[in-house]
Amino acid sequence: MMMRRGGAKLASSLIAVAKPRLFTTATTASRLLKPTIAAAEVASVSGLTGSNWIWTRAPAIGGVRFASSVTLDVKTPTPETNPKKTENESTGGDANKGEKGINSYWGVEPNKITKEDGTEWKWNCFRPWETYEADLKIDLKKHHVPTTFLDKLAYWTVKSLRLPTDLFFQRRYGCRAMMLETVAAVPGMVGGMLLHCKSLRRFEQSGGWIKALLEEAENERMHLMTFMEVAKPKWYERALVITVQGVFFNAYFLGYVISPKFAHRMVGYLEEEAIHSYTEFLKELDKGNIENVPAPAIAIDYWRLPADATLRDVVTVIRADEAHHRDVNHFASDIHYQGRELKEAPAPIGYH
Ligand SMILES: [Fe+2]
Ligand SMILES: [Fe+2]
Repeated sequence: MMMRRGGAKLASSLIAVAKPRLFTTATTASRLLKPTIAAAEVASVSGLTGSNWIWTRAPAIGGVRFASSVTLDVKTPTPETNPKKTENESTGGDANKGEKGINSYWGVEPNKITKEDGTEWKWNCFRPWETYEADLKIDLKKHHVPTTFLDKLAYWTVKSLRLPTDLFFQRRYGCRAMMLETVAAVPGMVGGMLLHCKSLRRFEQSGGWIKALLEEAENERMHLMTFMEVAKPKWYERALVITVQGVFFNAYFLGYVISPKFAHRMVGYLEEEAIHSYTEFLKELDKGNIENVPAPAIAIDYWRLPADATLRDVVTVIRADEAHHRDVNHFASDIHYQGRELKEAPAPIGYH
């Protein structure tokens, strides 16, 4: 009896192992041949009814050109004649890396998305419904005057961090921006993670702040994905990022546990510094000290920039994002200063 059960178990295990190989191709094919979802349905699901951006799921069409890659093509041969460049272009999106057949036995769909003009959506690291047009009207000069001891501590911590940064990077703003974005994307993730755990521990909702902080982290990471296309990090810069991340992640984690009002205030001041840095970056571009190259394709799609956008346009929209992060974090700190909890104020979700 035992042996018969053992045999049956073995047989079912073998079938389980063989199944993907036997059936995956058919499964994948049927997924790819799924009928197109009505554009209106997709738009309503993504909350973008009325927008010019409509997406449909459709089989990938080999060789279809992606609209935003036009800008990069000004300087480079077409992807068809330079496959290596195509790979580089997709650094931030992992585009087409799955083309060579990752089996989908588990029913996880390839999720090919096309834009309304029929061209393939190139990026896997963000989707069309996560894109937005930056709010360039935001006041860049707002500043929180530090009055309390904690505020002054946060302010001077940030100011003291600026000195070694200035010495290290000097006027290499592209490199500086890329490196600083590796740090800027940490606080939102740490804060969001801690609020997530708090929500679980206390059986209570977060007022949307988990999502808002994770959105901020994701937005900062997209800044990094963009600058990676402009400035390639050297080995010692990568090593520096690993070290700084190790220190900063843990320091910010501790800081947030001890005093969220201090942590958010510090990020608010970090964002004020980021605005300053990007303003200097723009000045260097205007003086011609930094070449105003075409905007990376990933940036054109993420911020819905025109196809002929330049690095200057990219820096301008990133600076606007930083101003939003500044306001969100100073606001979060203010909530704590008023003796309230973040969950009591609706979080600024989708605030860019
Ligand atoms: Fe940023
Ligand atoms: Fe930021």
